[in-house]
Amino acid sequence: MENENRAVSLSVNGTHYEVLLEPRVSLLDALRETLHLTGTKKGCNQGACGACTVLVNGTRINACLALAIQYQDVEIITIEGLRENHHLHPLQQALSNSMVFSVGIVLPARSVQLSGWCKSFKTTSRVRSPKTLP
Ligand code: FES
Repeated sequence: MENENRAVSLSVNGTHYEVLLEPRVSLLDALRETLHLTGTKKGCNQGACGACTVLVNGTRINACLALAIQYQDVEIITIEGLRENHHLHPLQQALSNSMVFSVGIVLPARSVQLSGWCKSFKTTSRVRSPKTLP
């Protein structure tokens, strides 16, 4: 049987990777199994739970529904990429503090989802400061 692997370039958390993948490999499996970035979790693997959320050029996607080969030449951010200088991102810290009873599979995804939401809110919203309100 012919080897169907393809060279795939992925940019994840600011690092460029060149990997060989079958075209049918999901972005989630490429992140977890090939790049060993296991912070992105596999929950339902059907696009329903959001545990696999990553940011692609700042937009939230479910990595389990994405083919890795289609995400070349874009910036992918996983939960590992939210850290700043080996410290938790403020969203991670806040969620960690407030969701003590939450299941561990949810916390990384919620952090990435909120981070993406905050970035999109900053770029698409016009928030007037109280000083400019009538
Ligand atoms: S693993 Fe549940 S949405 Fe991707």
